[in-house]
Amino acid sequence: MRVAQGRDSVLLAVKPTQAQAPAVGVNVLVVYHSVTGNTEKMAHGITEGARSVAGANVVLKRVGEVVADDLLASDAVIVGSPVYFASMSGEVKTFFDNWSLKFGLFRELKMRNKVGGAFVTGAAISNGKEVTMQAIHAAMLVNQMSIVSGGGAFGASATTGPDSPGIDEKALESARALGKRVAEFAAVTKRGSRT
Ligand SMILES: Cc1cc2nc3c(=O)[nH]c(=O)nc-3n(C[C@H](O)[C@H](O)[C@H](O)COP(=O)(O)O)c2cc1C
Repeated sequence: MRVAQGRDSVLLAVKPTQAQAPAVGVNVLVVYHSVTGNTEKMAHGITEGARSVAGANVVLKRVGEVVADDLLASDAVIVGSPVYFASMSGEVKTFFDNWSLKFGLFRELKMRNKVGGAFVTGAAISNGKEVTMQAIHAAMLVNQMSIVSGGGAFGASATTGPDSPGIDEKALESARALGKRVAEFAAVTKRGSRT
C-alpha cells in the first residue's frame, strides 16, 4: 500500500513478507529412484533446500519405501527420476500407479491440493529431461495436486553423461532451490487454508 505524505515523500507500507510471516509446520516428502547415484545426490540437495525453510519437516525416501501414510501425511511431495527413454523410470511410474492400485489415494482424490514438484537427471543435454518432469507433473495433476517449479523452469535437473560435470555445485544449487520453493509454497497454501 502506498501512502502519500506530501509532495516529495512517499511511505511504502508493505505486507509482511513470507520470511517475516510466522512459520507454519509443513511436511515435505522427497521421493526418488536412482541406480547409479545421480538422482540420489539431487534428492539430498532437494532435502537440504526444503529443510532451510522454517517449520519444514522433511522426509527422504526411495520410491519403493513409500507407504500410503507417508503420502497422506505430506503437504508437499517432490519426486525425482532418472530419464529413461525420455520419460520417468518404470519404478517411478509404478510408484504413481500405486496411488490408485495399492494406496487408494486416487479415487477420493486424497492428494488434492497438496503441492508437487519434480526433479530429474539424464545423461544427455537434450534427451528428455523437461518432458520427464512434465510426465511427473501430469501424474500429479491427474490427482489434482498444485504444481510448482523451482531451480529451473520446470523443476531441478542435471546432465550426468561422461562429458558433463555431473552433479556439481550448480546442479545442487538448482536442487536446493526447488526444495526451498516447494516448502515455501506449501507453507503459504497451508497458512492460507487456515484463514
Ligand atoms: C534404460 C535407460 C534409459 C535411459 N534413457 C535416457 C534418455 O532417454 N535420456 C537421457 O538423457 N539419459 C538416459 N539415460 C541415462 C540416465 O538417465 C542417467 O544416467 C541418469 O543420471 C541416471 O540416474 P541415476 O544415477 O540416479 O540412476 C538412460 C539410462 C538407462 C539405464
